[in-house]
Amino acid sequence: MTTWKIAVLPGDGIGQEVTAEAVRVLKTVGKGAGQGFEFEQALVGGAAIDATGAPLAPGALDLCRGSHAILFGAVGGPRWDAVPHETRPERGLLALRKELDLYANLRPAKCFPMLVDASPLKRSVVEGTDLMVIRELTGGLYFGEPRGVERFADGGARAINTMAYTSREIERIARMGFEVARKRTKRLTSVDKVNVLVVSQLWREVVTQVARDYPDVALDHLLVDNCAMALIQRPTQFDTIVTENTFGDILSDEAAILAGSMGMLPSASLGGSVGLYEPVHGTAPDIAGRGIANPIAAILSAAMLLRYSLSLGPDADRVEAAVLRVLEGGARTADIAPAGGRTVGTREMGDLIVRELERQY
Ligand code: IPM
Ligand code: MG
Repeated sequence: MTTWKIAVLPGDGIGQEVTAEAVRVLKTVGKGAGQGFEFEQALVGGAAIDATGAPLAPGALDLCRGSHAILFGAVGGPRWDAVPHETRPERGLLALRKELDLYANLRPAKCFPMLVDASPLKRSVVEGTDLMVIRELTGGLYFGEPRGVERFADGGARAINTMAYTSREIERIARMGFEVARKRTKRLTSVDKVNVLVVSQLWREVVTQVARDYPDVALDHLLVDNCAMALIQRPTQFDTIVTENTFGDILSDEAAILAGSMGMLPSASLGGSVGLYEPVHGTAPDIAGRGIANPIAAILSAAMLLRYSLSLGPDADRVEAAVLRVLEGGARTADIAPAGGRTVGTREMGDLIVRELERQY
């Protein structure tokens, strides 16, 4: 029997609650599929700052490097807002992405038929939405140098971040975009700001070059502002979107609304030797600790982990089918429930999905 080592980094806020449900789901897969799972936890984010003074606990990176995959919750919260910039909770996540070379972030946004009315957008707009945002994750403004704040004697200041990309960085994320699009409906939209940014000029040039290797994939280019509009105007026209770090951060939150709730969106961060799987939603301090968060994004992230890091596609299918079944059965956490409708909590949603998953084996 294979034993898969999974590093579990729940982080802060609802990250703690939803990750526990994803772990239960993986344990259920273990039992059903005869796979061994070994889970080891490490601290990241505010939890790591409180316990160790740093946003990534000593040993956490090594644990991740020595694992088959990483299950991640969320980091941050108002408690650590006053922490100096370079040691904020978010730096723990950014360090993991950079150190593990997780340059490709896959964020699927699918509007499940039974949740069409959970989206604030009209049924006629969101129905049938099924897209994938591929966000470059280790370059651009998030990591570019120089960066910093200069304070002047007169009390003024100047702050700088740098958007920089090498052709190599663009090429590898473009290839990921084409590969993913090829397995979907063979349509790729590259998003940039070519009318203003020289970085985007290089981006478009390299993506266009890479396209020659993928004659079967239809490529188009869209400006990011226009894309932001088109995403909520005609989301069904999109299939796979590839874009740089900051644009992808913003567009993927927007895409979450198409799926009804941030609580539904999983993600996979790939590229290096070990993948990281995390729900797109954050720590949701307003509802943290109340047991009402939606665990589905975390559970669907676990499904992505099975598929991409462990090559257990059929088991990933089972997890996704279990989620779908439970939603079909009418169970709703507060974020996806109709106004005044009955809701279930995090644990109860987890229970329902685990029970349905057991039936799938
Ligand atoms: C995300 C988050 C992170 C990001 C934060 C927590 C650093 O918003 O994963 O989208 O900006 O990348
Ligand atoms: Mg974000």
